Amino acid sequence: MSRYLVTGGCGFIGNHLVRHLLEEHFAVTVVDDLSTGSRDNVPDGVHFVEGDIRDQSLMTELLSQADGCFHLAAIPSVERCSKEWQFTSDVNALGTISVFESAAKAARGHACPVLYASSAAVYGAASAEAPLDETMPIAPISSYGVDKFACEHYGRIAWRNYQVPNVGLRLFNVYGEGQPKDSPYSGVITHFIRALEQKKPLTIFGGGNQSRDFVYVGDVVRAMVALMRAPMQSEIYNICTNVPTSILSLAQMLKELFGDTQEINYQPERLGDIPYSLGSNAKLYKKNPEFIYTSLKEGLEKTLQNTCRS
Ligand code: NAD
Ligand code: UD1
Repeated sequence: MSRYLVTGGCGFIGNHLVRHLLEEHFAVTVVDDLSTGSRDNVPDGVHFVEGDIRDQSLMTELLSQADGCFHLAAIPSVERCSKEWQFTSDVNALGTISVFESAAKAARGHACPVLYASSAAVYGAASAEAPLDETMPIAPISSYGVDKFACEHYGRIAWRNYQVPNVGLRLFNVYGEGQPKDSPYSGVITHFIRALEQKKPLTIFGGGNQSRDFVYVGDVVRAMVALMRAPMQSEIYNICTNVPTSILSLAQMLKELFGDTQEINYQPERLGDIPYSLGSNAKLYKKNPEFIYTSLKEGLEKTLQNTCRS
């Protein structure tokens, strides 16, 4: 049976991925420092190791026992990365070097393949109309986006110089049940749901016309597993739906689902916030033509069903 190591497996996407891997009958090891993730997210049957991805001897040992590594551990909040630049860069950029170097050193006869989370933030300030594809110029406008772009370069070097096969996923805005509701650094959908549950106004930073490509977490983890199982050298894929949604229309959709008429509380735009983010998923479709994406309405309904139970 294949064993996969999931870094950041106690976080939002990691938790969904681990459960999906178990359903597919893979053995799973999770390494997480529990800095933001929760130990409660680790299901029975998973080998859990509390540790830091920057601890190379630990990572080399864990990767020696793995058939592949899903590297998700990071600090994913653009806002937090703007406020704590050096600390977050250390985890997001140097932590990824640690994973690649450990994968190269892992004593398993050949380097351990790594699938890692990059981000749509690498594209920076894109124009509203054009869906971004993987060949387009990259110009991140946040320290977080720069660090994720650095990870992509490290991935290229990891393959070229150390023969570590790797795939980087430019995840767009991932949503679904399980993001911590009490964290100021959770995504916009989690914030809006929390406000609606508490019958408080929804806060919008900036004018609300900024748009995002929201992709349901269940679709993201299916894509991750499919790509891990395919042959890899060093590749980048967008993970997105090709459908833009403005933050104002998202607020409207959620208010309708809640039957709510709360006012909007407008606050100044956030530092490093990208105005538009719309991805082309043509490259992934070409590889996996049967791939089907959950619509935002369906995904929000699923999220609400599962979130409101918790
Ligand atoms: P998350 O914050 O929910 O999970 C990250 C996990 O990593 C947490 O459990 C945390 O405890 C752990 N972690 C942090 N630093 C660590 C360290 N030094 N060593 C070990 N563990 C550490 O984040 P998420 O939303 O699940 O995102 C997962 C990945 O996907 C991240 O790399 C993120 O940048 C990327 N991403 C997320 C989104 C999104 O919309 N959520 C979009 C694009 C990219
Ligand atoms: C998100 C991810 C980031 C990922 C990127 C990919 C999180 C926390 N961040 O960043 O890891 O790399 O997508 O595109 O999941 N907003 C409000 N009100 C709120 C919260 C947010 O108006 O209460 C606005 C923000 O200003 C922003 C938009 O909603 O314009 C999305 O914000 P957010 O969900 O934090 O995600 P991104 O910054 O896009």
